[in-house]
Amino acid sequence: MGLTKFFLPAVLIAGLLPATTASPAAAAPVRYQAESATISQGLVESNHAGFTGTGFVNADNVVGSYVQWSVPASAAGQATLTFRFANGTTANRSGDITVNGALVSDELAFNGTGAWTTWQDRVITVNLAAGTNTIRATSTTAAGLPNLDALDVDTAPAPVRGTPQTPTDVTTGLALPWATSFLPDGQSALLTERNSFRVSRVTLNGTRTTVGTVPNSVTTNGEGGLMGVAVSPTWNGTSDQAVYFFHTSNDGGQTQNRIVRMNFNGTALSNRTVIVSGIRSNTFHNGGQLKFGPDGYLYAGTGDAQDTSTSQNNNSLNGKILRFTTSGAAAPGNPFGTLVFSKGHRNPQGLAWDSAGRMWSAELGDTQVDELNLIISGHNYGWPTCQGNCSTPGMDNPKRTWTTAEASPSSLAIVNDTAYVAALRGQRLWRVELNGTSAGATQAYFTNTYGRLRSIVKVPGANTIWISTSNTTNDRLLRSEIR
Ligand code: GCU
Ligand code: CA
Repeated sequence: MGLTKFFLPAVLIAGLLPATTASPAAAAPVRYQAESATISQGLVESNHAGFTGTGFVNADNVVGSYVQWSVPASAAGQATLTFRFANGTTANRSGDITVNGALVSDELAFNGTGAWTTWQDRVITVNLAAGTNTIRATSTTAAGLPNLDALDVDTAPAPVRGTPQTPTDVTTGLALPWATSFLPDGQSALLTERNSFRVSRVTLNGTRTTVGTVPNSVTTNGEGGLMGVAVSPTWNGTSDQAVYFFHTSNDGGQTQNRIVRMNFNGTALSNRTVIVSGIRSNTFHNGGQLKFGPDGYLYAGTGDAQDTSTSQNNNSLNGKILRFTTSGAAAPGNPFGTLVFSKGHRNPQGLAWDSAGRMWSAELGDTQVDELNLIISGHNYGWPTCQGNCSTPGMDNPKRTWTTAEASPSSLAIVNDTAYVAALRGQRLWRVELNGTSAGATQAYFTNTYGRLRSIVKVPGANTIWISTSNTTNDRLLRSEIR
């Protein structure tokens, strides 16, 4: 037995299934090599050129020899199976094809291809179940199967995943709600209103109680005021009462954006402490989003405060995404040893993480395009050199762009690796499938139905998002189930 001709028992081969890129929405075929499949009565060989992978299967020339593949499918539905084979004889080497034990093709013909080095495709259409499918080709003649190189599986596009359903009201009569952060038990959330500086507690069934205002808050007669809120992930109302706010404030007569900690005992706010100061404010471009990341550190999106030079300046806290501890110190591992996590931002207001812990940000562009960015520590997102895509070395391009008219994204939530982006000027909800590090299929929902949309947050433990409108008066907090 030479090195190129070897035999592996089926039990051993069964564990060697190919790595797949199960991309739920994509319709790209996935190749499953025959030599990696389960083989009953056959050998893996490589003595006839033209195969892919590391070889092909020479099934024994008997009735009943088979090759069996395990094929995952993200959803039930139609799939195209392509068997790549060679048959150097003139006889039809037919085989029965079964999917999960059911015969789907009776004596499928594998006719002569002219030579053992001439490989051809045999294509059939089958239905696959969600989950792992067992696809087997079994010889039905004494001549055995043709030599089999691979099976390509092309699943039909999966049905749209994560469609937001028509919303219902959680609570109404709000004025410019800006951000929402759930308490760890997922039963209620804190909600900020930008211009009144008011903070409310809202329960899942919509009971709303004012718990206080954030002292020292000021408006900018533009976009500043009381903005982000983040509840400590270990908040319990007693030993941990910490809640954090991002607001424009006037401590010592100096108007700036600051990040503060307050105590919240379940009914009232008290004890404001500034943890990050020196974030410049201006009428517009104040950023304002504040969230705990999966690593337990606080993240904040800061605007350029209408001074574009801040975004590329590592010493400025503006035009950045910041990452810091609950006492306002640079989080360990930050790229420049400061609070700065990423730079080159104009006005990033959406921050969220996918299931792999990757950080995404939605950012308001200038007059041309808005961006959805994949945020990586120390990376430069281009502003003011770039808006949207450009080819400047050292600057990351967005994964998705929109015109400012169809978006102006104020916040971002990720549910089951699908991003939901609330659009102010676009007056709609954008849904973007995230496929690893790229952004996939994108659809708009609720266009011009509820007006401007600002805050969006996932309800913990539920396939539901809360969305707030931003129409200044009679604003609503909406819930939409994701199906
Ligand atoms: C030859 C050929 C094999 C093939 C076999 C067959 O031995 O080299 O690759 O499988 O014929 O007829 O099945
Ligand atoms: Ca054979």
